[in-house]
Amino acid sequence: MNLPEQEQWKKAAAEAAAKLVDNGMVVGLGTGSTTAFLVCALGRRVAKENLRIVGIPTSERTAEHARTLNIPLTTFAEHRHIDLTIDGADEIEPRTLGLIKGHGGALLREKIVAAASSRMIVIGDETKIVERLGVRESVPVEVVSFGWQVTLRRLEKLGASAILRSGSDKKTFVTDGGNYIIDCKFDGITNAKELAHHLDHIVGAIENGLFLGLASQAIVGGRDGVKILQRASDS
Ligand code: A5P
Repeated sequence: MNLPEQEQWKKAAAEAAAKLVDNGMVVGLGTGSTTAFLVCALGRRVAKENLRIVGIPTSERTAEHARTLNIPLTTFAEHRHIDLTIDGADEIEPRTLGLIKGHGGALLREKIVAAASSRMIVIGDETKIVERLGVRESVPVEVVSFGWQVTLRRLEKLGASAILRSGSDKKTFVTDGGNYIIDCKFDGITNAKELAHHLDHIVGAIENGLFLGLASQAIVGGRDGVKILQRASDS
């Protein structure tokens, strides 16, 4: 089957990342269409090379996919520490490897998993690379459903155009943790660290989709093949 070009780029990045997984690792498995290619590649390695890993999935969706491919899964009850997490992103800032994540709705578990990992690699296609975070995408914020209307107002006071996320069925989108997501579009993010600090202190907000200082490497597929970007040491 011939995949559209962008899907081929995602697949190439995911397959390059899958090669970095070693026997014995506890692996954080991200969520999204790019990560789905990674799960397929790891499933093949488990089946053909007898790769021995355990995965901690960042969503029910990824867990289900991994189970169908016989990738053994574990939980934080059994493993407090993850060796390597591989996940996609909605935006990637090249030098800092700051990310916007959560357009797939899994940002809370994704951040918990990334923060518990010795190493996080972000995978994506070249369309995810942006000069500055927030130029294209909104920042998803996971909020408790109780009082979401006042939480949204607080997010607006930070300068966001804030919208409660709906699913394709037009009903309010509910995360795996039973929470809501408010998508916050900022008119350009000038200081991502400062914004993340403000978002961390919004009452009613559980977590936000700014992933700063978490990814140390990006594997990006594109027109000219797969490129590897490292996080600059001063960021
Ligand atoms: C899931 O909540 C997200 O963080 C995804 O990792 C992100 O949206 C990238 O998804 P795609 O790989 O589908 O573009």
